[in-house]
Amino acid sequence: VSQLKIAIDGPASAGKSTIAKLIAKDLNYIYCDTGAMYRSLTYAAIKKNIDPANEEALAALLKEMTISFKAGKEQQSVFVNGEDVTEEIRQPDVTNQVSAVSAHKKIREDLVRRQQEIAEDGGVVMDGRDIGTAVLPNAEVKIFMVASAAERAERRYKENLSKGIETPLLVLQKEIEERDYKDAHRQVSPLVQAEDAILIDTTNLSILEVVEKIKGIIEKKQ
Ligand code: C5P
Repeated sequence: VSQLKIAIDGPASAGKSTIAKLIAKDLNYIYCDTGAMYRSLTYAAIKKNIDPANEEALAALLKEMTISFKAGKEQQSVFVNGEDVTEEIRQPDVTNQVSAVSAHKKIREDLVRRQQEIAEDGGVVMDGRDIGTAVLPNAEVKIFMVASAAERAERRYKENLSKGIETPLLVLQKEIEERDYKDAHRQVSPLVQAEDAILIDTTNLSILEVVEKIKGIIEKKQ
């Protein structure tokens, strides 16, 4: 059985990481959360007071950063230069600035190269916005996962509540829509469904149903 490359793209909070993690566990593959890499840079930039519009300063900062993942039982931890930033990179200030940081060409070139190295030998499930189109155009399996904005806000709302954060549902929906707009309208590798990607709308599906659907798609490629 060959070691496949599986790309899962789609807008914010469509369920990509939840599903990608489950699929990776099932296949004993590496899970790579590319959004966490853009978030890590954004977090480091905020700490250093670097303007998200300053491409040169961001690129210089990124050059000095190692970003690594460590798989745990429940979640995957993210480390920047050895420091655990797993919680910090999910904070609202990072979420609201990450699209500006990720729009820069130099930033994408650097991170895409790192992502391609991680996926080099296959056996990887990678989620993001441009995996099927730019990072792994030869991935054997490409999924484009969507859900209605209302459903995505609802999911994020519940996830936040479990962490003790209470943001009004409509604020979350507006933030999600704004991030989608920026990600889909940037010049470099905008969020778009690859021609050969399979569309899955998760609005009315359970996590298990989505996992089963994708497993069926993977089985046909093995
Ligand atoms: O997946 P997540 O919501 O954590 O991604 C955070 C942000 O990182 C996205 O809104 C997008 O701006 C950026 N991103 C990207 N390309 C990827 C993954 C994430 O531009 N492959």
